[in-house]
Amino acid sequence: MLQFIFTKTERYPGLEVEHNQFQRNVQTLIVNFKYRGFWRTILGVLAIICAKVGLPVLEEYRFFKQNRRESGLDTDGIVELDELDIPDGMRSSASRYEAASDFEFRHVLEKLHIDYPAYNFIDYGSGKGAIHAAAARYPFKSVSGVELSGEMHQIALRNIETVKQQDRVRAASLTSVHGDATSYALPPCPHVIYVFNAFGADVLQAVLDGISADLADVREPIYFLYNNPMHHKLLDMNPDYTKLWNAFGGKWMVFAKMK
Ligand SMILES: C[S@@+](CC[C@H](N)C(=O)[O-])C[C@H]1O[C@@H](n2cnc3c(N)ncnc32)[C@H](O)[C@@H]1O
Repeated sequence: MLQFIFTKTERYPGLEVEHNQFQRNVQTLIVNFKYRGFWRTILGVLAIICAKVGLPVLEEYRFFKQNRRESGLDTDGIVELDELDIPDGMRSSASRYEAASDFEFRHVLEKLHIDYPAYNFIDYGSGKGAIHAAAARYPFKSVSGVELSGEMHQIALRNIETVKQQDRVRAASLTSVHGDATSYALPPCPHVIYVFNAFGADVLQAVLDGISADLADVREPIYFLYNNPMHHKLLDMNPDYTKLWNAFGGKWMVFAKMK
């Protein structure tokens, strides 16, 4: 147990970047208190402990169940690569679907202290839309996602309708596009770019090349939020990008591209 808490390792070898589990767990707890509040966090932690020791109580307070109840969105679960409706030729460069924590995302985003209305937000590999729905809570000029799987994209469209009906959208526009991240053109304005380990190094490099070409004339900083940054070396080595900070023990990395 202690080894699990303190070791710098991936929790799911091959699927997760090596990071400091202890720092991640502490920061996750802090972020839960910040967004979920004291009692819901305590109940969630107790629910985890009960599940670990096999006690069939507090099941309804498991964090993912709290999320589903409160957001009303269909973003749950893991969809393995062979279950995703994506072209066979792209399967080896894609990642399975799983939703990121919108609390982790909101914490990282708020630390940027940007002027939201001046920025577009784009999630490359947006899946069922958990994160671009979370981004739409902020007054961005636009929030969009591009997703390769038609089935995931259809669910994202339904989730967009749900958040609009709940009156939780402060962004001026919120869209999901069905397509390949490498063919998605960005308008020439400041962007917050988000990727949750959606694809392999070749596709990420093509996406970075597209960003450089599309945003070549933008003077303001472009932010790149990389969740589970399996291929962060591409950004580390790219002279256009500067690493600003790590969050959650290195499970997230934040880069800026300055003109
Ligand atoms: C780990 S999920 C991330 C979901 C969402 N961004 C989030 O943070 O909750 C990765 C998603 O990327 C999609 N994907 C993989 N390759 C892609 C590509 N070339 N273009 C667009 N989407 C892609 C997958 O279908 C999958 O839904």
